[in-house]
Amino acid sequence: MKLQNDTVLITGGSSGIGLEFGKVLLQCGNKVIICGRSAEKLEEAKRLHPGFITYVCDLSDSSQCLDFAIKITKNHPELNVLVNNAAIVHRTTFADDPESIDKLVAELQTNLIAPVRLIHQLIPLLGKNRNAAIVNITTGLVYVPRALYPFYNATKAALHSFTQVLRLQLKEKPIQVSEVMFPAVDTPWHQGNPPKIAVPVSKAVTEMIRGLKQDKPEIRVGGAKMLYLISRIAPGFALKKVNALE
Ligand SMILES: NC(=O)c1ccc[n+]([C@@H]2O[C@H](COP(=O)([O-])OP(=O)(O)OC[C@H]3O[C@@H](n4cnc5c(N)ncnc54)[C@H](OP(=O)(O)O)[C@@H]3O)[C@@H](O)[C@H]2O)c1
Repeated sequence: MKLQNDTVLITGGSSGIGLEFGKVLLQCGNKVIICGRSAEKLEEAKRLHPGFITYVCDLSDSSQCLDFAIKITKNHPELNVLVNNAAIVHRTTFADDPESIDKLVAELQTNLIAPVRLIHQLIPLLGKNRNAAIVNITTGLVYVPRALYPFYNATKAALHSFTQVLRLQLKEKPIQVSEVMFPAVDTPWHQGNPPKIAVPVSKAVTEMIRGLKQDKPEIRVGGAKMLYLISRIAPGFALKKVNALE
C-alpha cells in the first residue's frame, strides 16, 4: 500500500484512531473522506484539518449506509482505499441488563454488518482503481474475549473471520485485504478512563501505517502481537490475563 496520492475513505474518522490516521494521510498528500453520526464532531475535525471531506451518516442504518455508498461511488470515482474503522462498544452485564439484546443488535449492525455492506457496495468501484485496498480495523480481543464487553469481542471476531474469507475470495481481484488488530489505545472510546496499558494514539497509528506500507495482511499492533502468541500457546492463561487488566 502506498498511502500517497490515494483517495481513502475512513469510516468513523471524526475521533480517535480514524481521526489520527486521517490527519497523517492528509499530511502525506492523500485525499481523505471521513464519516460519522455526529455533524458537530465532523465539523470540529474539519476545523482542525480543513482537507477532510466529510459526510454525516449512521452506518448502522442500512438505508443510510447504502445511500452513503452510492454517494461515494458518484462523488469519488477515484476511491481506492476503504478503511472500516467505525465501531461501538457496550460495557454491560449481559444477564442483568434489560437492554442487552438491543445493544447486541446495535453492535452487530455497526461493527459487522455495516463494514460488510460497504465492502459489498464498493468492491465494483475499488476493483476499477489502481492500488485498491480494504482495511478492516479489529482488536487483539478477536483472539481472547474481555468479559466487560459481552458483544464487542464477538462482533470483531466475526469481522476477523470474514476478513480472512474476503482475502481468499478476492485473491484473483486487484484488491488487497488487510486487517489491523489494535491493543488498548488511548482514545475517546474509553470515555476518559483508558486502561493502564493503553498506548498513545499517535504511536498506534504509526505502527499501523508501517504495517500497511509493508503490505502485511494482518497487522498486530503493540500488545496485540503478544496477546496473539499467548492465546496460541496458553489460551487459558491469556483469558485470565485479559480479564485481570485494570
Ligand atoms: N481505542 C481502543 O482501545 C481500541 C482498541 C482496539 C480496537 N479499536 C478499534 O479501533 C476503531 C476506532 O476506535 P477509536 O478508539 O478511535 O474509537 P472512537 O474514538 O470512539 O471513534 C469511533 C468513531 O466511529 C464513529 N462511529 C461510531 N458509530 C458509528 C456509526 N453508526 N456510523 C458512523 N460512524 C460511527 C464515531 O463517530 P460518531 O460517534 O459521530 O458516529 C467515531 O468517529 C474501532 O473499530 C475500535 O473497535 C479501538
